[in-house]
Amino acid sequence: FAFTPANQKWAETQITKYPEGRQASAIIPLLWRAQEQEGWLSRPAIEHVSEMLGLAYIRGLEVATFYFMFQLQPVGSVAHIQVCGTTSCMICGAEDLMAVCKDRIASRAHEVSADGKFSWEEVECLGACSNAPMAQIGKDYYEDLTTERLSEIIDELAAGKVPVPGPQNGRFASEPLSGLT
Ligand code: FES
Repeated sequence: FAFTPANQKWAETQITKYPEGRQASAIIPLLWRAQEQEGWLSRPAIEHVSEMLGLAYIRGLEVATFYFMFQLQPVGSVAHIQVCGTTSCMICGAEDLMAVCKDRIASRAHEVSADGKFSWEEVECLGACSNAPMAQIGKDYYEDLTTERLSEIIDELAAGKVPVPGPQNGRFASEPLSGLT
């Protein structure tokens, strides 16, 4: 693994932002940039970032395995769908959403679909419990999901479209928070 020249320069700049002796604190942004570049974090990528920060590989791996935002296996080229399976979402239909993922993408979490475009996994609470059930796709939240809507979202993504994120039932469109101000 090697950063592109632009990413290498960016990474070196990030490291200079931390006080002398604290450069290891740049590990999350550097891992994130490596993942953005490759789509996921391979062992060579984690090794490279760790080495840049003067850390043993195991220290980089500790960070990479702690956060759901880091993917340690290849993901779909179009989207990796993270379905929340914690209490609120579980009660409101997370299992049904995961059944859609199993049917449309792959029977097991972290497997890539036959066409290479999609992958999925179950994750813990993403903090959008009031709009359960929900899933994160890329950097966006898709909330108040139904099985039908999730299937449509997969179709839209496969067609190269960007589904509108946020609550999928329009609850905030029809009930603005302005009444609270
Ligand atoms: Fe699903 Fe919190 S339980 S977002």
